[in-house]
Amino acid sequence: MSVKYIYSKNKLKGEVTVPGDKSISHRSVMFGSIASGMTEITNFLQGADCLSTIQCFQRMGIEIEWKRDFVLVYGKGLRGLSAPEKTLEVGNSGTTTRLMAGILAGQAFGSVLSGDASLNTRPMGRIMAPLNSMGAHIESILDNGCAPLKIEPGILHGISYQSPVASAQVKSAILLAGLYADSETLVTEPALSRNHTELMLRGFGAEVTSSLHEDGSATAGICPCRQLYGQKVQVPGDISSAAYFIAAGLLAPGSELLLCNVGTNPTRAGILKVCEDMGADITYLNCQNTAGRGGEPTADILVRFSRLHGTTIEGSMIPALIDEIPIIAVMAACAEGKTVIKDAAELKVKETNRIDTVTENLRAMGCQVTPTEDGMIIEGGKPLSGAHIRTYLDHRIAMAFSIAGLVAEGETVIEDSQCVDVSYPEFFDTLSRLY
Ligand code: S3P
Repeated sequence: MSVKYIYSKNKLKGEVTVPGDKSISHRSVMFGSIASGMTEITNFLQGADCLSTIQCFQRMGIEIEWKRDFVLVYGKGLRGLSAPEKTLEVGNSGTTTRLMAGILAGQAFGSVLSGDASLNTRPMGRIMAPLNSMGAHIESILDNGCAPLKIEPGILHGISYQSPVASAQVKSAILLAGLYADSETLVTEPALSRNHTELMLRGFGAEVTSSLHEDGSATAGICPCRQLYGQKVQVPGDISSAAYFIAAGLLAPGSELLLCNVGTNPTRAGILKVCEDMGADITYLNCQNTAGRGGEPTADILVRFSRLHGTTIEGSMIPALIDEIPIIAVMAACAEGKTVIKDAAELKVKETNRIDTVTENLRAMGCQVTPTEDGMIIEGGKPLSGAHIRTYLDHRIAMAFSIAGLVAEGETVIEDSQCVDVSYPEFFDTLSRLY
């Protein structure tokens, strides 16, 4: 167990370039591996989750080379992966498990996927049901709806699937299996989840459609594919990692922070809208957009200390900020008045049950929080006091409560702080450089 001690500081000043986006890094290796030719990835995130993805594809015969400024993936085409000799170890990574299951469902060989203790309790029925209805053969080895998963070869057919959850991992698993199906595959979700798969697969040459409906639901479609083509992928900075510094800049009196080259895809950047709703002083500089060419929009984000007030976060906003709810909850605890978070039952099936882990730790810092079935109600405005934070090895809890510790009175201890390695290994070094 490693612990970090965080003490309150007055202001944070400077520039931060956060590491590459985790979701996009995963996809770049996966799509590069099943494309024909070489894929060159710049700003790839070297966090533990993305390294799990790399290792899995290496075990299936893909050569991946680390250069100084980029990663090279030597793709072998849609049917060029080879049978792994051992279990594919996915570590803590839900994205590796679910997206890779979509790809493996279409292979001519069998495989087994397994992760760490947290991963192996997360629900996999949400991908097994639609993939098996396409003709895949995926079973939960312990018959509990979780990994380890055993995947046997199957002949895949296109389906039109109504997903009960707005989940990019579910949508992406089905779209990836759809590459191998004999007819078009459609996935409709109740609200639009992050669309990195659609944007990037289009860039790799797949025929992908997307439409938004009047009731807020969204459909993505994919046609059976003969070949994907290796690409140059520029991974933007991860807004989920930038979120901690955005909050730090807004909460610590006198702060001014510039976050450079952050991905601002609207299906991911819900936290920026929430900050604005809470009264944040945010300026966007140097905005770029290569979304039409398989890329993603980016901007430099300037944040200055602001007096925040409570807000309501609900409905179709939730998928665009689901991973940022722990740090939004910290901002809410420091803001004047009440914040209500609802329609976010998905929080219960993340790396931890984040309704529980956020509630427990905010309470430890003296904040009044009421957990609900699908979110929480936070009474903000009372100064936070330093506390012993239990992360339960959840990287986003560790980082969110480090920022809470910065603005709290007294010492905060972050238990198992090394869990930040999952998505942001340099987090504590970067934080300590700013004050
Ligand atoms: C991700 C999708 C989200 C998110 C996860 C990464 C992705 O999960 O929470 O951290 O890369 O597709 P769900 O799709 O389950 O909501």
